[in-house]
Amino acid sequence: MNHLLLYCRPGFEKECAAEVREQCEQQGIYGYCKLEENTGYALFVSHQPDGAALAVEQLRFHDLIFTRQWIVCLPMIEGVDTQDRVESLMPHVRGLPQCSELWVEPADTTEGREMQRFCNSFGSAFSQVLRKQGVLQRQATDRLHIFALSGSCFYIGYAPIKNSAPWPMGIMRLKFPQQAPSRSTLKLEEAWHWFIPEHQWHQYISSGKRAVDLGAAPGGWTWQLVNQNMFVTAIDNGPMADSLMETGQVKHLTEDAFAFHPQKPFDWMVCDIVDKPTRVIKLMTQWLQEGWCRETVFNLKLPMKQRYPEVKSCLAYLQTTLNEAGIDYRLAAKHLYHDREEITVHVRLLGYHG
Ligand SMILES: C[S@@+](CC[C@H](N)C(=O)[O-])C[C@H]1O[C@@H](n2cnc3c(N)ncnc32)[C@H](O)[C@@H]1O
Repeated sequence: MNHLLLYCRPGFEKECAAEVREQCEQQGIYGYCKLEENTGYALFVSHQPDGAALAVEQLRFHDLIFTRQWIVCLPMIEGVDTQDRVESLMPHVRGLPQCSELWVEPADTTEGREMQRFCNSFGSAFSQVLRKQGVLQRQATDRLHIFALSGSCFYIGYAPIKNSAPWPMGIMRLKFPQQAPSRSTLKLEEAWHWFIPEHQWHQYISSGKRAVDLGAAPGGWTWQLVNQNMFVTAIDNGPMADSLMETGQVKHLTEDAFAFHPQKPFDWMVCDIVDKPTRVIKLMTQWLQEGWCRETVFNLKLPMKQRYPEVKSCLAYLQTTLNEAGIDYRLAAKHLYHDREEITVHVRLLGYHG
């Protein structure tokens, strides 16, 4: 199969397509992209008949920044009989690899969300039929996806369960913690879930660790750190929420984060400062190079037109600097669901002993 359907945040189709195309090219998989702005998806069409299937075998989904989900799919199926969708779509499904379950999903747009109910009810009806007929088998390693553009227009395909997003629409939904002082809190929580596997949380996100939050006010990210029983130095000229200060776990410094140099290294440094990405990445690189923190999660704000080139050049700056300094690290970046015009980056120094 040569069509690869990519879900993304509406408005980021170009970045999503450019990144996947580039990564495919590096694997010798050539093709072109089709997209329409603000639709929440893009399509990579390979010149090779099995190009999309090869892409999901050879690329690591986790390495993609702008793609929320990917599906190896058939070309668009239009004019489906709305009186009997199951019958109309069944032959297409039978041509796919065996799958374990079916997800019917809309795009993450206003029109898409209006189709959510239809997707849920059609999905459960079709799943029942597919299971009865033995088309869905629980032990299969792929998941069947139907991406619904309308009640009669679909993309149908599959994604490898172990190399794709484990959430419908590729969206990690989190409940807003009522005690947190700002909605931004969900960005750090999602980042931790995305970058750090659950079984490693006790090692990396644990009680008693020392953290610094650059650009902390009013304290959504600090709240997450405090919630994990860390001791937090919050740096911001703006006020921190009283509820956080009352915990006794937060020290608030009204200083310029770009001028702050710690006396003692921190386990964690997080940064949500709204500033030029080139300025933020230099600060982040300095912290890592100086060993002022062991691990960091930070945002790069992307209000500019050339977002993907900007991201690449910022990450390349950090990587080149650390590589030249002989520092061993692990870096990952993601356009998270709770990110808007920004991406989130995670870097951990390896073999660091503070
Ligand atoms: C997006 S807000 C941070 C929100 C915070 N993460 C939360 O969850 O509540 C950005 C913050 O960065 C602060 N800021 C901007 N430039 C700064 C600087 N040079 N030093 C310290 N703080 C700065 C602003 O005052 C603002 O409070």
